Amino acid sequence: MGTFREERRGPVEIWTLDAEDTRNAISRAVLAELEARVARVSGGQEVRAVILTGAGKKAFCAGADLKERASMSEAEVRAFLGGLRRTLWAINTSGTIFIAAINGSALGGGTELALACDLRVAAPAAELGLTEVRLGIIPGGGGTQRLPRLIGPGRAKDLILTGRRINAAEAFAIGLVQRLAPEGRLLEVSLAMAEQIAENAPVAVAAAKRAIDRGLALDLEAALALELEDYETVLRSEDRLEGLRAFAEKRPPVWKGR
Ligand code: COA
Repeated sequence: MGTFREERRGPVEIWTLDAEDTRNAISRAVLAELEARVARVSGGQEVRAVILTGAGKKAFCAGADLKERASMSEAEVRAFLGGLRRTLWAINTSGTIFIAAINGSALGGGTELALACDLRVAAPAAELGLTEVRLGIIPGGGGTQRLPRLIGPGRAKDLILTGRRINAAEAFAIGLVQRLAPEGRLLEVSLAMAEQIAENAPVAVAAAKRAIDRGLALDLEAALALELEDYETVLRSEDRLEGLRAFAEKRPPVWKGR
Protein backbone atom coordinates (compact mmCIF):
# COMPACT_ATOMS: atom_id res chain seq x y z
CA MET A 1 0.00 0.00 0.00
CA GLY A 2 1.29 3.48 -0.58
CA THR A 3 -1.15 5.76 -2.37
CA PHE A 4 -2.84 6.82 0.86
CA ARG A 5 -1.46 8.33 4.04
CA GLU A 6 -3.18 7.19 7.19
CA GLU A 7 -3.56 8.84 10.57
CA ARG A 8 -5.39 7.43 13.57
CA ARG A 9 -7.29 9.68 16.01
CA GLY A 10 -8.95 7.42 18.56
CA PRO A 11 -11.86 5.67 16.83
CA VAL A 12 -11.39 7.75 13.66
CA GLU A 13 -8.99 7.17 10.76
CA ILE A 14 -8.00 9.89 8.33
CA TRP A 15 -7.10 8.59 4.88
CA THR A 16 -5.35 11.09 2.64
CA LEU A 17 -5.26 10.17 -1.03
CA ASP A 18 -1.69 11.06 -1.85
CA ALA A 19 -1.15 11.32 -5.60
CA GLU A 20 -0.79 15.06 -6.12
CA ASP A 21 0.93 14.83 -9.50
CA THR A 22 -2.30 13.45 -10.97
CA ARG A 23 -4.45 15.62 -8.67
CA ASN A 24 -5.32 12.51 -6.64
CA ALA A 25 -6.91 10.79 -9.61
CA ILE A 26 -8.17 7.23 -9.18
CA SER A 27 -5.72 4.89 -10.88
CA ARG A 28 -6.01 1.12 -10.74
CA ALA A 29 -3.50 1.10 -7.87
CA VAL A 30 -5.46 3.73 -5.92
CA LEU A 31 -8.68 1.80 -6.45
CA ALA A 32 -7.17 -1.51 -5.32
CA GLU A 33 -5.83 0.09 -2.17
CA LEU A 34 -9.10 1.87 -1.41
CA GLU A 35 -11.04 -1.38 -1.82
CA ALA A 36 -8.69 -3.21 0.56
CA ARG A 37 -8.89 -0.39 3.11
CA VAL A 38 -12.68 -0.30 3.06
CA ALA A 39 -12.80 -4.09 3.55
CA ARG A 40 -10.41 -3.82 6.50
CA VAL A 41 -12.40 -1.23 8.46
CA SER A 42 -15.76 -2.76 7.57
CA GLY A 43 -14.59 -6.14 8.84
CA GLY A 44 -14.09 -4.85 12.39
CA GLN A 45 -15.62 -2.45 14.90
CA GLU A 46 -12.49 -0.63 15.93
CA VAL A 47 -12.63 2.15 13.33
CA ARG A 48 -15.95 3.91 13.77
CA ALA A 49 -15.47 6.60 11.14
CA VAL A 50 -13.15 7.32 8.25
CA ILE A 51 -12.37 10.78 6.94
CA LEU A 52 -11.38 10.64 3.31
CA THR A 53 -9.45 13.62 1.95
CA GLY A 54 -6.92 14.53 -0.73
CA ALA A 55 -3.30 15.63 -0.50
CA GLY A 56 -2.42 19.23 -1.33
CA LYS A 57 -4.63 22.24 -1.82
CA LYS A 58 -5.70 21.68 -5.42
CA ALA A 59 -7.74 18.53 -5.52
CA PHE A 60 -9.76 16.15 -3.41
CA CYS A 61 -9.81 13.76 -6.37
CA ALA A 62 -9.76 14.60 -10.08
CA GLY A 63 -11.77 11.48 -10.96
CA ALA A 64 -10.53 8.53 -12.95
CA ASP A 65 -6.86 8.66 -13.92
CA LEU A 66 -7.27 9.89 -17.47
CA LYS A 67 -3.61 9.31 -18.36
CA GLU A 68 -3.90 5.65 -17.42
CA ARG A 69 -7.31 5.47 -19.12
CA ALA A 70 -5.84 6.60 -22.47
CA SER A 71 -4.03 3.29 -22.92
CA MET A 72 -6.79 1.06 -21.56
CA SER A 73 -8.87 -1.23 -23.78
CA GLU A 74 -12.66 -1.20 -23.62
CA ALA A 75 -12.55 -4.39 -21.50
CA GLU A 76 -10.05 -2.82 -19.13
CA VAL A 77 -12.21 0.28 -18.67
CA ARG A 78 -15.17 -2.00 -17.96
CA ALA A 79 -13.16 -3.90 -15.34
CA PHE A 80 -12.00 -0.66 -13.74
CA LEU A 81 -15.56 0.63 -13.58
CA GLY A 82 -16.70 -2.64 -12.03
CA GLY A 83 -14.06 -2.27 -9.34
CA LEU A 84 -15.02 1.36 -8.70
CA ARG A 85 -18.70 0.50 -8.39
CA ARG A 86 -17.95 -2.41 -6.07
CA THR A 87 -15.75 -0.24 -3.85
CA LEU A 88 -18.27 2.61 -3.64
CA TRP A 89 -21.00 0.11 -2.78
CA ALA A 90 -18.77 -1.29 -0.04
CA ILE A 91 -18.46 2.24 1.40
CA ASN A 92 -22.23 2.67 1.11
CA THR A 93 -23.04 -0.52 2.93
CA SER A 94 -20.24 -0.44 5.52
CA GLY A 95 -21.09 -0.20 9.22
CA THR A 96 -18.27 2.37 9.40
CA ILE A 97 -19.24 5.97 8.68
CA PHE A 98 -17.37 7.69 5.85
CA ILE A 99 -16.93 11.46 5.69
CA ALA A 100 -15.51 13.11 2.57
CA ALA A 101 -13.41 16.13 3.56
CA ILE A 102 -13.34 17.94 0.23
CA ASN A 103 -10.20 20.06 0.17
CA GLY A 104 -10.22 21.07 -3.52
CA SER A 105 -11.57 19.87 -6.86
CA ALA A 106 -13.76 16.76 -6.76
CA LEU A 107 -14.57 15.98 -10.37
CA GLY A 108 -16.21 13.02 -12.08
CA GLY A 109 -15.26 9.97 -10.03
CA GLY A 110 -14.04 12.37 -7.32
CA THR A 111 -17.56 13.65 -6.79
CA GLU A 112 -18.87 10.07 -7.07
CA LEU A 113 -16.47 9.01 -4.33
CA ALA A 114 -17.75 11.87 -2.15
CA LEU A 115 -21.34 10.85 -2.95
CA ALA A 116 -20.75 7.28 -1.79
CA CYS A 117 -19.62 8.64 1.58
CA ASP A 118 -22.24 9.25 4.26
CA LEU A 119 -21.44 12.92 4.71
CA ARG A 120 -19.49 15.65 2.94
CA VAL A 121 -17.62 18.62 4.42
CA ALA A 122 -16.20 21.25 2.06
CA ALA A 123 -13.27 23.65 2.34
CA PRO A 124 -13.65 27.08 0.72
CA ALA A 125 -11.50 25.81 -2.20
CA ALA A 126 -13.78 22.84 -2.88
CA GLU A 127 -15.23 22.49 -6.35
CA LEU A 128 -17.58 19.68 -7.32
CA GLY A 129 -18.85 18.45 -10.64
CA LEU A 130 -19.95 15.42 -12.59
CA THR A 131 -18.13 16.46 -15.74
CA GLU A 132 -18.32 13.13 -17.58
CA VAL A 133 -20.56 14.18 -20.51
CA ARG A 134 -17.84 16.67 -21.46
CA LEU A 135 -15.61 13.67 -22.03
CA GLY A 136 -18.15 11.65 -23.99
CA ILE A 137 -19.13 9.37 -21.13
CA ILE A 138 -21.67 9.40 -18.29
CA PRO A 139 -21.05 9.17 -14.56
CA GLY A 140 -20.66 5.42 -14.18
CA GLY A 141 -19.58 5.21 -10.57
CA GLY A 142 -23.12 5.69 -9.30
CA GLY A 143 -23.33 9.43 -9.97
CA THR A 144 -26.54 9.33 -12.02
CA GLN A 145 -28.24 7.48 -9.18
CA ARG A 146 -26.73 8.82 -5.96
CA LEU A 147 -26.83 12.51 -6.93
CA PRO A 148 -30.60 12.70 -7.67
CA ARG A 149 -31.32 10.74 -4.47
CA LEU A 150 -29.33 13.32 -2.52
CA ILE A 151 -30.37 16.61 -4.15
CA GLY A 152 -33.39 15.73 -6.33
CA PRO A 153 -33.66 14.98 -10.06
CA GLY A 154 -33.92 18.60 -11.28
CA ARG A 155 -30.76 19.76 -9.59
CA ALA A 156 -28.97 16.53 -10.54
CA LYS A 157 -29.85 17.02 -14.22
CA ASP A 158 -28.70 20.63 -14.02
CA LEU A 159 -25.28 19.38 -12.89
CA ILE A 160 -24.94 16.17 -14.90
CA LEU A 161 -26.27 17.37 -18.27
CA THR A 162 -24.28 20.62 -18.24
CA GLY A 163 -21.20 19.02 -16.68
CA ARG A 164 -20.61 22.31 -14.89
CA ARG A 165 -18.51 22.70 -11.77
CA ILE A 166 -19.90 24.31 -8.64
CA ASN A 167 -18.15 25.91 -5.69
CA ALA A 168 -18.48 25.04 -2.01
CA ALA A 169 -21.20 27.63 -1.32
CA GLU A 170 -23.46 26.36 -4.12
CA ALA A 171 -22.80 22.72 -3.15
CA PHE A 172 -23.86 23.57 0.39
CA ALA A 173 -26.93 25.50 -0.74
CA ILE A 174 -28.24 22.52 -2.74
CA GLY A 175 -27.45 19.95 -0.03
CA LEU A 176 -24.62 18.27 -1.89
CA VAL A 177 -22.32 19.01 1.04
CA GLN A 178 -23.53 19.03 4.63
CA ARG A 179 -21.03 21.41 6.24
CA LEU A 180 -18.76 24.23 5.13
CA ALA A 181 -15.42 24.50 6.92
CA PRO A 182 -13.67 27.85 7.31
CA GLU A 183 -10.27 28.26 5.63
CA GLY A 184 -7.66 25.97 7.18
CA ARG A 185 -10.15 24.10 9.37
CA LEU A 186 -11.42 21.31 7.10
CA LEU A 187 -9.95 18.45 9.10
CA GLU A 188 -10.92 19.99 12.42
CA VAL A 189 -14.57 20.33 11.35
CA SER A 190 -14.61 16.84 9.80
CA LEU A 191 -12.98 15.31 12.85
CA ALA A 192 -15.44 16.99 15.22
CA MET A 193 -18.28 15.51 13.17
CA ALA A 194 -16.67 12.05 13.11
CA GLU A 195 -16.01 12.11 16.85
CA GLN A 196 -19.58 13.12 17.63
CA ILE A 197 -20.78 10.14 15.58
CA ALA A 198 -18.24 7.81 17.19
CA GLU A 199 -19.53 8.72 20.68
CA ASN A 200 -22.80 7.01 19.82
CA ALA A 201 -23.68 3.33 20.06
CA PRO A 202 -22.03 1.43 17.17
CA VAL A 203 -24.98 -0.90 16.51
CA ALA A 204 -27.38 2.06 16.53
CA VAL A 205 -25.29 4.19 14.16
CA ALA A 206 -24.87 1.32 11.69
CA ALA A 207 -28.59 0.44 11.90
CA ALA A 208 -29.61 4.08 11.34
CA LYS A 209 -27.32 4.35 8.30
CA ARG A 210 -28.77 1.14 6.87
CA ALA A 211 -32.36 2.23 7.51
CA ILE A 212 -31.84 5.56 5.75
CA ASP A 213 -29.94 4.21 2.76
CA ARG A 214 -32.00 1.09 2.13
CA GLY A 215 -35.28 2.85 2.86
CA LEU A 216 -34.61 5.45 0.17
CA ALA A 217 -35.03 2.80 -2.50
CA LEU A 218 -38.46 1.73 -1.22
CA ASP A 219 -41.95 3.18 -1.08
CA LEU A 220 -42.82 4.75 2.28
CA GLU A 221 -44.81 1.81 3.60
CA ALA A 222 -42.06 -0.71 2.84
CA ALA A 223 -39.45 1.72 4.13
CA LEU A 224 -41.30 2.12 7.44
CA ALA A 225 -41.39 -1.68 7.79
CA LEU A 226 -37.66 -1.72 7.17
CA GLU A 227 -37.15 0.90 9.90
CA LEU A 228 -38.94 -1.42 12.29
CA GLU A 229 -36.61 -4.27 11.32
CA ASP A 230 -33.61 -2.08 12.11
CA TYR A 231 -35.24 -1.00 15.37
CA GLU A 232 -35.45 -4.69 16.34
CA THR A 233 -31.68 -4.91 15.94
CA VAL A 234 -31.09 -2.15 18.48
CA LEU A 235 -33.90 -3.34 20.73
CA ARG A 236 -32.09 -6.64 21.21
CA SER A 237 -28.67 -5.04 21.70
CA GLU A 238 -26.80 -4.95 25.01
CA ASP A 239 -25.89 -1.36 24.29
CA ARG A 240 -29.54 -0.27 24.50
CA LEU A 241 -29.58 -1.36 28.15
CA GLU A 242 -26.22 0.31 28.74
CA GLY A 243 -27.66 3.55 27.30
CA LEU A 244 -30.52 3.41 29.80
CA ARG A 245 -28.19 2.59 32.72
CA ALA A 246 -25.78 5.40 31.83
CA PHE A 247 -28.66 7.84 31.61
CA ALA A 248 -29.97 6.80 35.04
CA GLU A 249 -26.49 6.95 36.56
CA LYS A 250 -25.70 10.31 34.91
CA ARG A 251 -22.48 9.06 33.30
CA PRO A 252 -21.26 8.60 29.74
CA PRO A 253 -22.17 5.20 28.29
CA VAL A 254 -19.53 2.55 27.67
CA TRP A 255 -20.53 0.83 24.43
CA LYS A 256 -19.75 -2.78 23.70
CA GLY A 257 -20.83 -2.71 20.08
CA ARG A 258 -23.36 -5.49 20.50
N1 COA B 1 -6.16 11.99 -14.42
C1 COA B 1 -4.82 12.02 -14.60
N2 COA B 1 -4.09 13.14 -14.47
C2 COA B 1 -4.74 14.26 -14.14
C3 COA B 1 -6.12 14.30 -13.91
C4 COA B 1 -6.84 13.09 -14.07
N3 COA B 1 -8.17 13.00 -13.87
N4 COA B 1 -6.48 15.56 -13.59
C5 COA B 1 -5.35 16.28 -13.60
N5 COA B 1 -4.29 15.51 -13.93
C6 COA B 1 -2.89 15.89 -14.10
C7 COA B 1 -2.72 16.84 -15.26
O1 COA B 1 -2.69 16.13 -16.49
C8 COA B 1 -1.40 17.48 -14.92
O2 COA B 1 -0.35 16.61 -15.25
P1 COA B 1 0.99 17.17 -16.00
O3 COA B 1 1.65 18.01 -14.94
O4 COA B 1 1.74 15.92 -16.32
O5 COA B 1 0.52 17.95 -17.17
C9 COA B 1 -1.46 17.57 -13.40
O6 COA B 1 -2.46 16.63 -12.99
C10 COA B 1 -1.89 18.94 -12.92
O7 COA B 1 -3.07 19.29 -13.64
P2 COA B 1 -3.52 20.81 -13.83
O8 COA B 1 -4.77 20.81 -14.65
O9 COA B 1 -2.36 21.60 -14.33
O10 COA B 1 -3.79 21.18 -12.32
P3 COA B 1 -4.71 22.31 -11.70
O11 COA B 1 -4.40 22.30 -10.26
O12 COA B 1 -4.62 23.58 -12.47
O13 COA B 1 -6.23 21.78 -11.90
C11 COA B 1 -7.99 20.12 -11.84
C12 COA B 1 -6.67 20.63 -11.20
C13 COA B 1 -8.36 18.81 -11.13
C14 COA B 1 -9.08 21.16 -11.66
C15 COA B 1 -7.77 19.89 -13.34
O14 COA B 1 -6.59 19.12 -13.51
C16 COA B 1 -8.87 19.16 -14.05
O15 COA B 1 -9.88 19.76 -14.37
N6 COA B 1 -8.70 17.84 -14.33
C17 COA B 1 -9.64 17.06 -15.09
C18 COA B 1 -10.60 16.40 -14.15
C19 COA B 1 -11.75 15.73 -14.85
O16 COA B 1 -12.30 16.17 -15.83
N7 COA B 1 -12.13 14.60 -14.28
C20 COA B 1 -13.28 13.87 -14.72
C21 COA B 1 -12.90 12.50 -15.06
S1 COA B 1 -14.35 11.65 -15.58
